[in-house]
Amino acid sequence: MTERASPPVTIRELDAAGYEAAIPDLAALLVDAVDSGAGVNFLAGVTADETAPWWTERIDQVRNGVISAFVAIDDERIVGSTLLIRSRNPNSPHRAEIGKVLVHSSARRRGIATALMAAAEDRARADGRWMLMLDTVTGSAADAFYRSQGWVELGVMPNHALATDGTPTPTTFFWKDLR
Ligand SMILES: CC(C)(COP(=O)(O)OP(=O)(O)OC[C@H]1O[C@@H](n2cnc3c(N)ncnc32)[C@H](O)[C@@H]1OP(=O)(O)O)[C@@H](O)C(=O)NCCC(=O)NCCS
Repeated sequence: MTERASPPVTIRELDAAGYEAAIPDLAALLVDAVDSGAGVNFLAGVTADETAPWWTERIDQVRNGVISAFVAIDDERIVGSTLLIRSRNPNSPHRAEIGKVLVHSSARRRGIATALMAAAEDRARADGRWMLMLDTVTGSAADAFYRSQGWVELGVMPNHALATDGTPTPTTFFWKDLR
């Protein structure tokens, strides 16, 4: 495991064993995000038993280096996550996607997502993955967060996903060139 102290929390990159051990906490973090109304794959009422497979299905990709997983730890508790997901296509060795930028609802606006994103971007840069992309619910807290971090809006797709209450909502796609 690689560790770096980054006030106000510790940001840690997980190896495959650490990632697997963290799945119950990551599953709970995803439920907390849905409970707070975030558009992160699931609908209202989802349980940790239902979100855990999302993480479990990616263990092999953490093991084989396609995914780098970062967590924020505060007082020995996982309060945030971010994934760097590398393109596997031969024509895009320079590209990666950012996913599951989650900060527990009790720990927001303390700079934790900023620290997680900095760790993921440092890792991407070090690996030559300078073209990054991500998407999020248009007008959400995350939309404001990404803009604050220098992400460039590519465009908005209407009705791209369902909000937690089942209503179709738009998604904004962003890119960031790290060079
Ligand atoms: C989006 C999210 C990750 C931000 O995490 P965070 O740790 O609170 O973010 P930070 O404290 O690093 O915020 C940095 C800056 O982003 C902007 N920002 C963050 N949250 C914001 C909000 N709710 N409204 C407006 N701007 C916001 C601000 O400019 C903020 O700086 P400031 O606090 O000095 O004003 C968090 O709200 C979250 O987990 N939301 C639910 C999950 C989600 O939607 N994730 C994205 C999936 S694509």
